[in-house]
Amino acid sequence: MRVLVTGGAGFIGSNFIRHFLTAHPDSEVVNFDLLTYAGNLENLRELEHEPRYEFVKGDIADDKSVTNVMRDVDAVVNFAAESHVDRSIHDPRAFIRTNVLGTQVLLTAARERDVSRFVQVSTDEVYGSLGPTGAFTEETPLAPNSPYSASKAAADMLVRAAFHTYRAPVIVTRCSNNYGPFQFPEKLIPLMIANALEGKPLPVYGDGMNVRDWIYVGDHCEAIDRVLEAGRPGEIYNVGASNERPNLDIVRRILSELKKPESLITYVKDRPGHDRRYAIDSTKIQRELGWKPKHSLDDGLRETVQWYLDRRAWWERIRTGEYLAYYKKQYGSDAT
Ligand code: NAD
Ligand code: DAU
Repeated sequence: MRVLVTGGAGFIGSNFIRHFLTAHPDSEVVNFDLLTYAGNLENLRELEHEPRYEFVKGDIADDKSVTNVMRDVDAVVNFAAESHVDRSIHDPRAFIRTNVLGTQVLLTAARERDVSRFVQVSTDEVYGSLGPTGAFTEETPLAPNSPYSASKAAADMLVRAAFHTYRAPVIVTRCSNNYGPFQFPEKLIPLMIANALEGKPLPVYGDGMNVRDWIYVGDHCEAIDRVLEAGRPGEIYNVGASNERPNLDIVRRILSELKKPESLITYVKDRPGHDRRYAIDSTKIQRELGWKPKHSLDDGLRETVQWYLDRRAWWERIRTGEYLAYYKKQYGSDAT
C-alpha cells in the first residue's frame, strides 16, 4: 500500500510515518508538507535514505501540486493543518485556508484519482466544552468555540458531504490532546518542560483548572492505523485514553519529574473563549476495531520528559527567530 500522508513533518504526522513504515514492511509513504513554522524535516531524519519513504514539499490548498502528488497512491491520511488554538485567536486566516480549503482540495483530488481510503485526522475540540461530568461521543453535536476548532469542524462537514454526495471512502477520527516526542514547544507539555529546564516562568492560563484528556502520540498513531485498515467509510471514530487532568496537575508533575520548584508557575491572562473541559468516550473504536491505548499517563509523561532532556538541541533550535516573536506576542515576554 502506498499512502499519502499530509503534514507528515509535524508532530503527530512524523510519529505516524515512523510507526506505519515499521508496522507495515511492504508499505510506502509519501510525506506532503508545506514546512510551515511547525513542519520540521529533522523529525524524520533517520528516514532520509529509506527507499519506501518520499518527501514532497507542497501546499494542500494548491490544486495542481495536490493532483500531482495524489498520483499512484492507494490511501490518504490528512494531518496537515494549522493546529494551535492561540495562533488562531491572533489570526484565523491561515486556519481557514489550510484546514478548510486544503481539506476540500484533497477530497476532490482523491475522488478524481479514485483513492480507496481517506482518513481525516480531526479533533475532540469540534465538540466544544463539557461541564463537570460526561464525555464526548460520536453523536455529541458539534459546537466549536475557537477559530481553530471551527475550521476543523468545517473540514469534518466537507468530509461528511463527500461521503453523502459521492460515496467517497472517507473516515473521520477525533482525538483528544496528544503529547510525546517531537511536539512543537508552543503546546502545553513541551512548553512547560522547556521553560522549566531553562528556569523560565511557566505561564498557566486562568486558574489552571481547565481539564484536558491526554493520550500518548504513539497510541493515537496506532488508532489511525487501525482506522485506515478496518474503519468503515462514512464513520467517525473518537480516540482517547481516559486521562482527564487539570492543567495545573500536569504542570506540577512535570516540575516534580524535573526536580524544579513550583515557584516557577506563573498565572497569566486566560485564553479568550477557553474551553473548560474535554473528555473522550472511545468505546466505539475499542469495540469495533479492537484498538486500545497502551501507555499510562505516568509512563508516557516520564518518557516524554526524558525525550526533551535527551533532545535539548532539537527544541533549542526551534526556540529562536519566529518562535521568539510569537512568544512575545502571546505572553508579552521573551522565552529565552
Ligand atoms: P503540527 O502543527 O505539529 O503539524 C502540522 C503539520 O502540517 C506541519 O508539518 C506543517 O508544516 C503542515 N502544514 C501546515 N499547513 C500545511 C499546508 N497548507 N499544506 C501542507 N502541509 C501543511 O500539528 P499536530 O499537532 O501534529 O496535528 C496534526 C493533526 O492532528 C492536525 O490536523 C490536528 O488538527 C490534529 N490533532 C492534533 C491533536 C494534538 O493534540 N496535537 C489532537 C487531535 C487532533
Ligand atoms: O484536544 C485536541 C487539541 O489539543 C488539538 O486539536 C490541538 O491541535 C492541540 O493544540 C490541543 O489543543 P489545546 O488548546 O487543548 O492544547 P494546548 O497545548 O494549547 O493547551 C492545553 C491546555 O493548557 C489548555 O487548557 C490551555 C492551557 N495552556 C496552554 C498553553 C500553551 C496554558 O495554561 N498555558 C499555555 O501556555
